[in-house]
Amino acid sequence: MIKLGVNIDHIATLRQARKTIEPDPVAAAVIAELAGADGITVHLREDRRHINDRDIALLRKVVRTRLNLEMSIAKEIVGIAMRVKPDQATLVPEKRQEITTEGGLNVAAGFKKIKEVTGKLQKNGIIVSLFVDPEEEQIRAASKVKAEFIELHTGMFAKAKNGINAEKELDILEQSAKLAKSLGLRVNAGHGLDYWNTKQLVQKIPDLEELNIGHAIIARAVLVGLDKAVGEMKALIDNYANKV
Ligand code: PXP
Repeated sequence: MIKLGVNIDHIATLRQARKTIEPDPVAAAVIAELAGADGITVHLREDRRHINDRDIALLRKVVRTRLNLEMSIAKEIVGIAMRVKPDQATLVPEKRQEITTEGGLNVAAGFKKIKEVTGKLQKNGIIVSLFVDPEEEQIRAASKVKAEFIELHTGMFAKAKNGINAEKELDILEQSAKLAKSLGLRVNAGHGLDYWNTKQLVQKIPDLEELNIGHAIIARAVLVGLDKAVGEMKALIDNYANKV
């Protein structure tokens, strides 16, 4: 069963466009869960451009499935995670100027600090996932960090301009998932997934544990409603992966 984690950052982005109180990401989390989401994902960025401290505190109380906090390894954010205790923390790189997370964490280069933060979170009962590019060096480093999960960055696959390149990227993701599992890691995936490319991904790698999807679901929700958008993505994953 591949699970669906719904990233609701964009709900908060819309709220922040007017610096008002609506739409409320907490309400969105409830609707997403009622529509079948297996988890709620949010990124508390250091600049608080969308999700803020109030959201995290309330989401911790309200979310009934699993709360997955995407976060950098900055001291302040790690401190908040230790207090809020999400079910899972997904460590991501963070740059001020980027529109969204642009690539995976360089676990190999930042090994010492990432291992230290991972251990600290785990001691506090938080499951840790590392968002990494589908590269052998990063996956091997993630296993040495002793994170429970990796989340494979699917951005290159999502951006592939034609079928041949998409197939090539899918092969890379498949090999990466195999390697990660052989090293004892559990494997999630996400970034840039939509109602078309998710079908291909889950047919190719039906044994992923969870997909984290934000932009495509929230974009569709603006047109058809959040309940329908989440339900359609959940059904798509079930139809194309979970019944193989
Ligand atoms: N996974 C990670 C680690 C991310 O940073 C993001 C974007 O916040 C997503 C998944 C969701 O990506 P998208 O919004 O493109 O579906």
